[in-house]
Amino acid sequence: MKARNPQARDHAGEQQFAGANTHSDALPPIIGHLDSAVLPGQTFAVRLPANLIPQFPIVGGRYFLVRCGCPAVTEGEVDWTHHLRRPLFVCGRQKMDRDERWLLIPSIGRIDRRNDRESSPAKGQHGADAGYAWLAKQEIGDPLDLLGPFGNGFSLLPEMQNLLLLADIEDDPAWFWKLLPLCEQALDKGGRVTYLIRAANEESIAGLVPFLPVQVEVRTTLGASQWLEQVGSTLAWADQVCAGVPAESYGELLTLVRTTRFRVDRNFAQVLVNADLLCGVGACLVCVIPIARGGLTRACVHGPVFDLTDLAE
Ligand code: FES
Repeated sequence: MKARNPQARDHAGEQQFAGANTHSDALPPIIGHLDSAVLPGQTFAVRLPANLIPQFPIVGGRYFLVRCGCPAVTEGEVDWTHHLRRPLFVCGRQKMDRDERWLLIPSIGRIDRRNDRESSPAKGQHGADAGYAWLAKQEIGDPLDLLGPFGNGFSLLPEMQNLLLLADIEDDPAWFWKLLPLCEQALDKGGRVTYLIRAANEESIAGLVPFLPVQVEVRTTLGASQWLEQVGSTLAWADQVCAGVPAESYGELLTLVRTTRFRVDRNFAQVLVNADLLCGVGACLVCVIPIARGGLTRACVHGPVFDLTDLAE
């Protein structure tokens, strides 16, 4: 039987969004080294060779895929356990003397998150994921095999002066970290940043605030009605909004943007989607998500950051 080319099998209605990139060639892996422990719900650092990865204006919303299993050199001698690659979202990039230090955070997709909650709600977001459990056992200095960075990340508008960040950490604590690099990048452009965080309780926010630059205005909400009220009032003066919120709230967010601002300019509201990211090159179709005008799109190559109006009506 003739093998089908998945690249040529786009779903009906799939859109080639502006700036979309598809990778048809195999990417060589990058070998990095762990520079801090991998702890649940926290970012960790990886050292990568300097100048290997081009400079991007914005790193927020981009991701690597990490191989979760023994490095090839020891494979077969030590451990045959091997998992599919897992996504690691970029939370920061820092130039060091001889290399670069990247801050990364694991990202639980839709299927893994559902399995996690069903198998053991008490374990939290990463408790039952076998690949991330393997990663958490690695020690500082251990090599990591990475592909990437992949995806279309956030883009800040040239005229942006007031950036609004929305993170629903009651849905997923990782939203906070995934949006974090936008703070520095907006401040570096001379902009102001307001970070609105929704959480289940005050304690979960208190531990995060010290990681924000002091110039960032932090607002917090605990309930659904308070959240909508705060989003509405902060949207009124924002030049751009970047959000990490559940897919069920895209419609609500777009309605708030329309009622507050009367029109929705392209790229005014950008959302980072929670998708299962597996191959990163548009080949496996695991990451497909519905789009507003019908049909599906592959979040790995056409996202994972989208204009809100592409996903909600
Ligand atoms: S098509 Fe494989 S992760 Fe998107």
